[in-house]
Amino acid sequence: MAGEKVVLSPIEKEDVRLFQRWINDLVVTRYTRPHQITTLESEKQWFKRIISSKDDATFAIVDKKSGRTIGNVSLMKISNVDGNAEFGIMIGDKNYWGKGYGTEAAKLILDFGFNVLRLHEIYLRVKAFNKRAVKAYEKAGFKPAGVLRQNHFFAGKYHDVYLMDVLDKEFKSSAVKELLDSSARRQR
Ligand SMILES: CC(C)(COP(=O)(O)OP(=O)(O)OC[C@H]1O[C@@H](n2cnc3c(N)ncnc32)[C@H](O)[C@@H]1OP(=O)(O)O)[C@@H](O)C(=O)NCCC(=O)NCCS
Repeated sequence: MAGEKVVLSPIEKEDVRLFQRWINDLVVTRYTRPHQITTLESEKQWFKRIISSKDDATFAIVDKKSGRTIGNVSLMKISNVDGNAEFGIMIGDKNYWGKGYGTEAAKLILDFGFNVLRLHEIYLRVKAFNKRAVKAYEKAGFKPAGVLRQNHFFAGKYHDVYLMDVLDKEFKSSAVKELLDSSARRQR
């Protein structure tokens, strides 16, 4: 899956050390799971589980220009009964924050979820103080779906957690449908 700035690519064994470094960096994890301390061994086990999981689709986010892996993005707890999944993203390389990479990666995986996996709804949870994430999610197409009040404790305070979601009919495909259109154009 390729956009203008990023490519969503399969995660590789070589990415594991990078991911482990990011998820132990409190500057990054204050937005995700700050309480979790992850050893290289447990991250390797996560990798083994995730590459064979039918309930998750996880991609590395690769900067098109440099070819560097800058983060990862997932659809988790994929339910074929309800047609839904939970979205998660982490750009671990802080130099890439606020430059449109997260919005584009989110749009690409939503496209994959709706137009390849045939999902109906994709939802997420985001801490209210993570304003950059909320803005990126709105730009990708997510809408407010509720508030879990004082759901998260961090830095001596309880914080609200927002629920956001997007339905298949609300999402405009930019990458997947274009593949079909361009192959039809070539065949004409
Ligand atoms: C959240 C994350 C995926 C967003 O990706 P990103 O590439 O940094 O975000 P984008 O540049 O695509 O969009 C961010 C938007 O928020 C805006 N923004 C940044 N800081 C802001 C703030 N404090 N208040 C309001 N808006 C803010 C930016 O200006 C930008 O909007 P614009 O394009 O209209 O100017 C990324 O920052 C990240 O992974 N952060 C660390 C981990 C994390 O938070 N994961 C998500 C957990 S739910």
